[in-house]
Amino acid sequence: MKIEFSQTIPANAKLVAQIADKGALPAGLETSLVEGAKTARFKGNPGQIFDGFVERGGSVVRAAIAGAGDPGGSDRRTGLEKAGAALTAKFLTSGETSMALDLSDSGLSAEESASVLLGLRLRSWRHDEYRTKLKEEQKITLTSVTVTGAPEGTEAAWADAAAVATGVEFTRHLVAEPANKVFPLSFVAKCQEKFAGTGAELIVLDDDQMAELGMHSLLGVGLGSEQPSRILAIRWNGGDAGAKPVCFVGKGVTFDTGGISLKPGAGMEDMKWDMGGAGAVAGAMLALVTRKAKANIVGVMGLVENMPDGKAQRPGDIVTSMNGQTIEVINTDAEGRLVLCDALHWAQQEFSPVAIVDFATLTGAIIIALGNEYAGLYSNDDDLAAKLDAAGKASGDHLWRMPLAPGYDKLIDSPIADMKNVGPRGAGSITAAQFLQRFIAKGMPWAHCDIAGMAWADKAGVTWDKGATGYGVRLMDQYIRDTLEN
Ligand code: BES
Ligand code: MN
Ligand code: ZN
Repeated sequence: MKIEFSQTIPANAKLVAQIADKGALPAGLETSLVEGAKTARFKGNPGQIFDGFVERGGSVVRAAIAGAGDPGGSDRRTGLEKAGAALTAKFLTSGETSMALDLSDSGLSAEESASVLLGLRLRSWRHDEYRTKLKEEQKITLTSVTVTGAPEGTEAAWADAAAVATGVEFTRHLVAEPANKVFPLSFVAKCQEKFAGTGAELIVLDDDQMAELGMHSLLGVGLGSEQPSRILAIRWNGGDAGAKPVCFVGKGVTFDTGGISLKPGAGMEDMKWDMGGAGAVAGAMLALVTRKAKANIVGVMGLVENMPDGKAQRPGDIVTSMNGQTIEVINTDAEGRLVLCDALHWAQQEFSPVAIVDFATLTGAIIIALGNEYAGLYSNDDDLAAKLDAAGKASGDHLWRMPLAPGYDKLIDSPIADMKNVGPRGAGSITAAQFLQRFIAKGMPWAHCDIAGMAWADKAGVTWDKGATGYGVRLMDQYIRDTLEN
């Protein structure tokens, strides 16, 4: 979606949209539209749309009004995004090719206007590359929006928000692509292409380098795959020289069959998005780099494919992780934690971060607990947890804090090694977090976000269609804004 700014509504505009707060219609609206909106029971609720046809300057235009909700409400940003997103959802395949968005007299600030545009753009993302037989009426027609009457500062606010949209779109692309297209090597190649010339530094560890470092927990997961494993780090130094970075770490299992502990066939195709954590970290880094964040940040991604094979690891195998702790692999399907423990340890050792936050589609159990509304948040640090929670509320990527406790930790003690990779049936998401915590150095502020219920959606949401949501990008971006850039 191309978004441009102009002083005046294009003379040939056939579709003109305006934004309305709850209970208020744009000033100067034609009587027929005022009456039409009333008849259609348009109230200006968030995401509500009214459209009608009216004669302006001798030609008939389609006039649309999108509701943004209560201007004094606590969720103003979401309301504005919903207004923009609803316009896209309504007109994306409508046959209209361009839309004029008239913000004059809307009363919106520059930031509020940018929120409308962010909703508009995010909702326009689709993954149609493989659909060669779409009918005309299914194809995207709306490709450009011309914004007029925006308050001063909107273009700058939009440039900033557009960087975030770019990051979200990259994450959605990585997550939506199937596992024959996105595997560890191609994930790295796509990032190398995206970040070329941006000033970000990319560090790649191959199998030999990882073996040298002793990452046998991560490497064990990839043993059954023809695809070699990789660690990818993307480093951005936009802050003070020498200041320690914040480190984001992502689970990047590009396909999770379960390994020898094979998953049931039905629904296994969903496991192409088991790299949603790594995808979110890559997209967040792209957002931060694109808007040249004034902060030092490193994104680390553990990339492997979990397949069953004669070379695959077996239940009962014992592996030694990079920090020397031994793990009894009871279930080869609990592979995410095996990947993350080495990625987390390496990230702490290599970058000495001020805080480390991981993102992972780690457990089905978190979906049982929280469904598809909140990701699970675990942390050893109340301050870090509070800041992430606040960033979640502000960005719309919501988090709900879950407990860590010694009683849960002991559930993963093993009779033969330092720990086992699964606990009993109960508290499955918590014991996974306890496992990760065993690899966090004393005194290191750490948080773990279990995003298994959030990376993918079966139905359209505020700013996404069904499919890859891009969850986590806006959360990480917001957290960096709030903590390192203020
Ligand atoms: N990738 C899955 C978790 C998952 C499940 C994500 C469903 C999204 C939807 C993870 O690797 C896994 O298989 N976890 C197991 C752990 C169990 C073996 C202890 C699970 O949740 O069933
Ligand atoms: Mn698994
Ligand atoms: Zn998995």
